[in-house]
Amino acid sequence: MSTYAPTRDHRFSFGLWTVGQVGRDPFGDPTRPPLDPVESVKRLGALGAAGVSLHDNDLIPFGSSAAERDRLVARFREALAETGMRVTMATTNLFTHPIFRDGAFTSNDRDVRRFALRKTVDAIDLGAELGAPIYVFWGGREGSEVAAAKPATDAFERYKEALDFLCGYVRDQGYELRLALEPKPNEPRGDSFVATVGHALALIDRLEHPEMVGVNPEIAHETIAGLSFLHAVSLALWAGKLFHIDLNAQRGGRFDQDLRFGQEDLKEAFLLVRLLESSGYDGPLHFDAHPLRVEDEDGIWEFAAGCMRTYLILAEKARAFDADPRVAAALEAAGAGTLGLPTVEGGYSAEALRGLREETFDVDALAARGYANERLDQLVVEHLLGV
Ligand code: GCO
Ligand code: MN
Ligand code: MN
Repeated sequence: MSTYAPTRDHRFSFGLWTVGQVGRDPFGDPTRPPLDPVESVKRLGALGAAGVSLHDNDLIPFGSSAAERDRLVARFREALAETGMRVTMATTNLFTHPIFRDGAFTSNDRDVRRFALRKTVDAIDLGAELGAPIYVFWGGREGSEVAAAKPATDAFERYKEALDFLCGYVRDQGYELRLALEPKPNEPRGDSFVATVGHALALIDRLEHPEMVGVNPEIAHETIAGLSFLHAVSLALWAGKLFHIDLNAQRGGRFDQDLRFGQEDLKEAFLLVRLLESSGYDGPLHFDAHPLRVEDEDGIWEFAAGCMRTYLILAEKARAFDADPRVAAALEAAGAGTLGLPTVEGGYSAEALRGLREETFDVDALAARGYANERLDQLVVEHLLGV
């Protein structure tokens, strides 16, 4: 067995919709038959994943009867019990059915908004029944193409209203469930309301129960926006709000690619793994990516194994990087460690201000110093290349 074999302790998890993606795209029909969720649980469990996540409709087709729902849930729970897999996150599909074409919590139609709330309440019950500790909100249809049709300030208010209502429900039921907002700048809507991690954090601050709600950043989403994913995750960690994470890969300036973790931008993936491994983040390491459309069923499991294996390889590389004395010296020369020191000990005081005023700064020397970034980055590249 290789040292890169995942185990349950590695906390890897996959959306049922990821391995179950049938290869449909806006231009072409499915290239693979649908996967039975029970089969996905078994195959992923055998590969070493710890769990799966799901939308309500990944397990229970839209419009199923109560009896059908219970039958599907029962056989799914059997598969979980048999394999020791867990449901690591649950969410609601508020984007596929045409009723959500103008949004769910932010649809201009009040009846649609009320329907979306009820669907989410039912899906929260399902998540709780399956033992999911995290409930994700990705606002796929919460946005617009015609900005004039949808006053965005009202949309933010309706977003808040929906989240406050749902937090109220979770508290009322006594569920041990934390909520996580997943930002995305666009796709399927022209412009989404909760576009970036920064938008999500600002919204969370305005909620009635901000302590219950965090973020679920996704590599592809910040990358589509042309932003640094590393900074987005760092911001979430700093704010104490990294509740979940969606790992995949994406090239900038393109449609939403949902590539296998590590397939693109290995450097960013490496630095991300290094950050996650040292941050104390203990939530699921969740893959939200799709097997390539050209793959057959074997390719699905190659894809899933590859996501986990690449993560473990990068984690090992991160450990080697941080143990390398040349890296320690380069970090020292870059001053990386001193950014952790307070600029003014104890914050503002008249005395601290006096200290600042009395200090002599060698402006020329400070302006002339180098930060050795070239050396550090070259070491990143060499570690990645295995030199
Ligand atoms: C996307 C999103 C979704 C969500 C999922 C769970 O780009 O389609 O990333 O995959 O993560 O709906 O909320
Ligand atoms: Mn996505
Ligand atoms: Mn996602």
